[in-house]
Amino acid sequence: MTPAKSVCALTMLAAILAASPTSAGDGPQPVGPKLPAKVRGLLIQEMNAVLDATHDILDALVRGRDEVVAEKAQAIHDSFILKQEMTAADRRAFRDAVPEAFVARDKAFHELTADLAEAARDRDRARQHRLFRDMTEACTACHARYAPNRFPGFGE
Ligand code: HEC
Repeated sequence: MTPAKSVCALTMLAAILAASPTSAGDGPQPVGPKLPAKVRGLLIQEMNAVLDATHDILDALVRGRDEVVAEKAQAIHDSFILKQEMTAADRRAFRDAVPEAFVARDKAFHELTADLAEAARDRDRARQHRLFRDMTEACTACHARYAPNRFPGFGE
């Protein structure tokens, strides 16, 4: 590579790096603080219920209790709190406050829990383990991007 070309490549890289956090919109974007207090409270209740169910799933996985894995994964899929307690107005406020990509991520997460419930009903252990890993990766990825305010560990 000639010196002129390498300088050019470096300049371009610097420009891309400088532009990416804002223009590509892929930096952390805390959603909690943007929600109305009631809706945020429901989201937090839901998250704690999801964490409890995730503990129960791990417990059931290591005991080979497929029926409990199926029940708990299905319960996460069916949404404990958000779906049941949000009014139409709350739902609109939620949609208005969060980015589209957050909604898509939440949907993908819920699909994984449905797949996990299905794998458990099929008694397919290898698939249950794979999906449980994918599920916990989905928690982490969403928190790192959308809840660094709540989980400062991801900012370090
Ligand atoms: C689509 C995004 C998303 C996914 C997926 C997700 N979370 Fe969260 N979670 C959040 C957000 C956003 C907050 C912070 C809300 C706030 O700032 O008040 C949060 C907060 C939490 C909290 C803290 C609640 C509190 O008391 O403040 C727990 C616990 C939690 N999540 C557990 C989980 C677990 C376990 C999973 C996966 C099995 C998961 N979450 C998946 C978005 C997500």
